[in-house]
Amino acid sequence: MRVLAISGSPLKNGNTSRLINAITSELEKSGVTDLKIKTISLAGSTIRPCKSCRKCIKEGHCVLKSDDFSRFARQMKKSDLIIIGSPVYFHDVNGPVKNMIDRSYSLWHKRQLKGKKVIPVAVCADSGDDRALETLKIWAQAQEMKIIRTVSGHGYKAGEVLKDQSAIGQVKDAIKTIAGDVSPKET
Ligand SMILES: Cc1cc2nc3c(=O)[nH]c(=O)nc-3n(C[C@H](O)[C@H](O)[C@H](O)COP(=O)(O)O)c2cc1C
Repeated sequence: MRVLAISGSPLKNGNTSRLINAITSELEKSGVTDLKIKTISLAGSTIRPCKSCRKCIKEGHCVLKSDDFSRFARQMKKSDLIIIGSPVYFHDVNGPVKNMIDRSYSLWHKRQLKGKKVIPVAVCADSGDDRALETLKIWAQAQEMKIIRTVSGHGYKAGEVLKDQSAIGQVKDAIKTIAGDVSPKET
């Protein structure tokens, strides 16, 4: 199973990336065979906004080339499971994650992500994770991906999310589902 784990925070070692790493560590311990995990951080990457040029409708890919989206799109297309995590900014996903979602319009016309498994992840200090997860779920549904579970965590200072026992429980449940120990449930 090829896994792409994306941390959408501008902080390389913040809560989102730590929760994403907790998920990939649990996956490595799960017994799932033939795992190939690639982790990427949007920290230090540039994903410009969609220009609505609509050239992707004909071309089948995004024509904007001067940033990192094409590389991320290639990696998403190669993956069986995409773990996508966003920090919560004003009760929604942050800008880089929204730009990624919008640019993936280029993959939507021919449903190039169809059937891929996805685990949406959101991290907030206090509240707004539900709405951010809704954004990620709507994206996954539009792309006809298969939502395995969602994971939401709470923390403000870097690392605090790993003390959130509910989040750690959700991580374990998501990986059990992937490993086929429990059947997928409605998220
Ligand atoms: C611009 C901005 C907006 C934020 N908005 C919210 C919010 O609406 N709700 C909340 O609980 N936390 C909010 N936070 C706090 C972050 O979601 C929280 O610190 C989270 O752990 C950040 O993850 P990171 O360390 O991976 O960047 C906000 C932080 C920033 C910088």
